[in-house]
Formats: sequence, C-alpha cells, structure tokens
Amino acid sequence: TGGVITIDPGYKNTGSCESAITFLDGEKGILRYRGYSIEELAEKADFLEVAYLLIFGELPTKEQNDKFHNDIKAESIVDEDVKKILDAFPKAAHPMGVISSLTSALTAFNPSSVNVDSEEDMYKSVVRILGKFPVLVAWTLRKKQGLPLDYGDDSLGYVENILKMMFRKPHGEYTQNQILVDALDKLLILHADHEQNCSTSTVRIVGSSHAGLFASLSAGISALWGPLHGGANQAVLEMLEAIRQDDGDTKKYMAKAKDKSDPFRLMGFGHRVYKNFDPRARIIKKAADEVLGDLGIEDPILDIAKGLEKEALEDPYFVDRKLYPNVDFYSGIIYRGMGIPTDMFTVMFALGRLPGWIAQWREMRLRKEPIGRPRQVYIGETERKFIPINKR
Ligand code: SDX
Repeated sequence: TGGVITIDPGYKNTGSCESAITFLDGEKGILRYRGYSIEELAEKADFLEVAYLLIFGELPTKEQNDKFHNDIKAESIVDEDVKKILDAFPKAAHPMGVISSLTSALTAFNPSSVNVDSEEDMYKSVVRILGKFPVLVAWTLRKKQGLPLDYGDDSLGYVENILKMMFRKPHGEYTQNQILVDALDKLLILHADHEQNCSTSTVRIVGSSHAGLFASLSAGISALWGPLHGGANQAVLEMLEAIRQDDGDTKKYMAKAKDKSDPFRLMGFGHRVYKNFDPRARIIKKAADEVLGDLGIEDPILDIAKGLEKEALEDPYFVDRKLYPNVDFYSGIIYRGMGIPTDMFTVMFALGRLPGWIAQWREMRLRKEPIGRPRQVYIGETERKFIPINKR
C-alpha cells in the first residue's frame, strides 16, 4: 500500500500481539503466568493446575481441577493406528521428529475445524491433547529402547504416570520415586509458557491461517527443536560432556564462544529478553543440586556446569553482552539424573510447553487475530527478459 516497510530481523524490536497470558520483565528477571509469579507456582502448584491457569485464565477450583484430571485421563488412549506410524520410524530417528509427526497424525482424531468460540469444543481438544501427548512422549522413548509400550497406571497422578510409562521395567515392576515426580512436575511448570518465543510465535502464525490446534502444535515442536531454542538443553549436555572429555578445559570453550570466526556458542547462555538472570535457571539450578543430592548422584557434569557459569559471570565478554545461564543450562542435568536420554530432553521441553502453546493459540483465535503475513524489502534483480536455454 506504499507505506514504509521497516525490517526487524528476528523481530528483536517488534511486538506481534497483545496477550494476557505471560508477563516477562527481562531487566528484573520477572516471569508471571496470568499474574502469578513463577517462584510461587513452581513451589505451590502442580503442572496440570498451571496448565489450566494458562489456558483458561484462572487457577482451577478443587472441583474444576478434579474434573480436568479425570477428563484428561479419559482422553489418554491413543488410536492403535498411531502405533503403526511410530513403528514406521527408524530407531535412529530423532525423538523431536517422531513426536512432531505423531502430533500431526493426531489431527486425524481431532477435527481441525474445532469451533474455538465453543468452550465445550475447545475444552475437549485441550484435554484430548493433554491426555495423549504424554503417552506419545513415553512411547517414543520406549520405542527407541525396544521396550513394550503401555499406558502405565491411571490410578496415578499425571506426572507420576508419565514417569511410570517411561521407566516401568519390562516385567512390570516399578518403584515410584517422589523426588523424581516432584522434580519433573517443577520442570514442566517452569517450561509451561514464555510469551512470544520462537516456537510460540510459530504456533500462533500457523494457527492464524486457521490450521487446526494439533497441526499448529506440531509446527511449534519443529521450531522448538532448533539448538538456538529448545534444542539447547540437549546441546548443553553435549557441550558439557565434550568439556569433561577435554579434561574439563572450560577456558578453551569460553575462548571458542568469544571467537567470532568460530560458530560455537556457549549453549544454555544468553537470552533475547532476560538481560539479567533467567528466574527459571535460578530455580532449576537449586533443584539440580537437591535432586542429585537426594538421589545420591555425584555427577561431574554438574561441577563443570557450575565452573563454566562462574567463569562466564566473571568474563567481560559475557558480562558486557549480558549473557547469563538460561532455562536450558541446568535442566538437562536433572533430566540426565532422572535417567532420561539426552536426545529426549527437548521432547521434555515440549511436554512442558504444551499448555502455553495451547493457551497462546486459543487467545490468538479468540481475539480473531488476522492471518500472519509480513512484508519484505525486495533486494533482487530488476526486470529482465527470458533467455532460451541454448543461448545461456
Ligand atoms: C530458549 O525466547 C525465549 O523465551 C526462549 C526460551 C523459552 O522459554 O521459550 O527462553 C527458551 O530458547 C532459551 C535459549 C536457549 N538457547 C541457547 O542457549 C543457545 C545459545 N544462546 C544464543 O544462541 C543466544 O543467546 C540466543 C539465541 C538465546 C539469543 O540470541 P539473540 O537475542 O539473537 O542475541 P544475539 O545472537 O544477537 O547475541 C548478542 C551478542 C552477539 O555478540 P555481538 O555480535 O554483539 O558481538 O551476544 C553474543 C552474540 O555473538 N552471544 C553469545 C551467546 N549468545 C549471544 N556468544 C556466545 N555464546 C552465547 N550463548
């Protein structure tokens, strides 16, 4: 329309929407879900309560909470045909590729023409995906390990049963460990939403074409996979492992991270919004100490991580650029302590972020946001005539 187009790579200075879901203050390290501080929610709420809060805007009453749990359990059965899709994946397939495809496959079982204005339709879709996704996560892990798939035990709580589906021994024996249940519940809460991050913006823009919720979530999973985003938790452990095998030479990796000619970045450091500390990283670091301590795990990786953090916090390059540990820096250490394989860490991030994606998708549709279609500044060739191939 002839208006001025300003380019903003990575949308560093562009707001994409108004939202009432999550508030971040990057300078003060504040994170709130629907006005409640992340510190309080991580301490006092459980994951499904937080999921309800993010999606429907209020903490559930006891009655709403019980109904939510029961409705989710009732929706946790996955069509046997989905197992055939899972069977088709080679064992070497990355779990994020598997889970993104299975989520997309679920669209066959959830009309993408869901009427977002119908509370009942929306509620049904929400409990359907919250019921089925953890099963797909557990089955993806079990498939890679060549272990039988099942539904665990629906007399258990949501997070307890995720752990049982993931770690039940082939003959069925399984001992519940409350330390792991509490740690996973807290990790999922800490990952539940984070305003307009890369994967949430993806879910919003895909949903803005009126693609279905599950198709939009599948797109969000793919965006999260990247090592600059959710894939960082896996990349952090790979980096720490490399340092460990390199005699713990953190100085060498710090130098690489500062060398502009080297594409290496210190994974788990830096954030687009937090220019002070990431409040989630503080909570996770404390939880990592507690969980490994309670489990009696002496993980040299944790000491390397702490050493690296100390060095970075004292290094002018990092201090000048306000690079601090982010949510991904310590989370993998807890997942590893829980016995979760490294290539499943980002799937665990997606499991936590699911309610946030759903909440943001629903808000975008309820506010009737227009289809996302940015413009560009063209820098290619001016008009030119076609040249027949025998003259090129
Ligand atoms: C998540 O957005 C969210 O909210 C995401 C998330 C969520 O909950 O959804 O919080 C989850 O994705 C956390 C981030 C996980 N990613 C990583 O840990 C990967 C390593 N981090 C970097 O790739 C980077 O810090 C980003 C991607 C997180 C942020 O990138 P920005 O905001 O685009 O910053 P930038 O690349 O412009 O960097 C600014 C400067 C540059 O140096 P100069 O050109 O100014 O000299 O800082 C440097 C960068 O080179 N820099 C780093 C660095 N991160 C930035 N240098 C070394 N190591 C790093 N990790």
